[in-house]
Amino acid sequence: MRHWNILGAAVLALALSSVAAGAQTVKIGIVNTYSGPAAEPGDLIQRGIDLYMKEHEKDLPPGVKVELIKRDDTGPNPEVAKRLATELITRDKVNFLAGFVYTPNAMAVGPLATEAKVPVVVMNAGTAAITTTSPYIARVSFTMWQSSYPLGQWAAKNNIKKVYSAVSDYGPGIDAEAAFTKGFTDNGGQMLGSVHMPFNTADFVPYMQKAKDTNPDAVYVFVPAGKQAIALMKAFGEVGLKQAGVKLIGPGDITTDEGLDDMGDVALGTITMFHYSAAGKRPANDAFVKAYKAAYGQKEEPAFEVVGGYDGMDAIYHAIIAQKGKLDPDKTMALLKEWKSDKSPRGPVSIDPETRDVVQTEYLRRVEKVNGKLYNVEIDSMPAVKDPWKIINNKK
Ligand code: PHB
Repeated sequence: MRHWNILGAAVLALALSSVAAGAQTVKIGIVNTYSGPAAEPGDLIQRGIDLYMKEHEKDLPPGVKVELIKRDDTGPNPEVAKRLATELITRDKVNFLAGFVYTPNAMAVGPLATEAKVPVVVMNAGTAAITTTSPYIARVSFTMWQSSYPLGQWAAKNNIKKVYSAVSDYGPGIDAEAAFTKGFTDNGGQMLGSVHMPFNTADFVPYMQKAKDTNPDAVYVFVPAGKQAIALMKAFGEVGLKQAGVKLIGPGDITTDEGLDDMGDVALGTITMFHYSAAGKRPANDAFVKAYKAAYGQKEEPAFEVVGGYDGMDAIYHAIIAQKGKLDPDKTMALLKEWKSDKSPRGPVSIDPETRDVVQTEYLRRVEKVNGKLYNVEIDSMPAVKDPWKIINNKK
């Protein structure tokens, strides 16, 4: 009898402790691009997630564990993203969905998030309308309008009179072109023409040749960060636009910090507007760059995608810690809406509670050589920029 009591108590204690532990495992479903030709930004996001978790595991309340369930969408494939998100919601019962490099994938999960009440943290995709597709989406990355609208204003006021635009033919490219064009032409600039390039373009020479033929002061470009940005920069050099004195301008996706070495000197002088540069001189960024190099190699430079993953986890940890690991989706959304950080590598950043979209400093940068290496050197900044598309169009 006595024997049974002890055994019974032990079994009960074990059962209770595993229930308690189980109840405090927070599951995050990561929908990200881990394979295929467009995987580079996805790998960088994952590096940011991993670095954050390693540094901040100690900040979780006692007994709370975070489990990542990683799924590969293999590129901009909304049907795949939808299927993966559905499985993560219904089978794995995740508390969050996060990741999302590519706009079509983020767009595809909005209705699912609303129906299942699963908070989504967008760590990259930049088309302005994404956050309007569900009240359960918050974005920590950027919008194309946030960089390209002020870049258009800057160009018109800085002796650039005629511009030809070449953008990737999908959500963020269409947004980027519209944003630049509005900022530029509202301030007296003239657009000479534009071309929308298919997402999978490998050879940008014909497009850059077309741009050159219009004799512009500058070519405005958006292509997704990664291999495409490197190929575009090479084409800009090959057709002789640089030698002809034509400037290359765009959002920072076209001069990614991790890609500058591969782009080479043709990138020198490129002007971009963006929210993050590895060369940013801030104590939080110094520490971040140091930790990144220690984790991934001294020759590596962290890029904006890494920061998207890193800060995205900070927003998620904020919601987890405030609720001590027992998550309610509506409380989580309220906590995401009040997230702000003065420890981000990019400078002060927050989420606008009205739109659930990111508010951050935009930096004007020029590619320069520092100690023999190419960097996006910050030359000016605009604090607390909200998504201009939502302001202009009165969108929430
Ligand atoms: C997007 O699909 O929204 C996207 C992808 C890569 C970028 C920027 C935006 O560099």
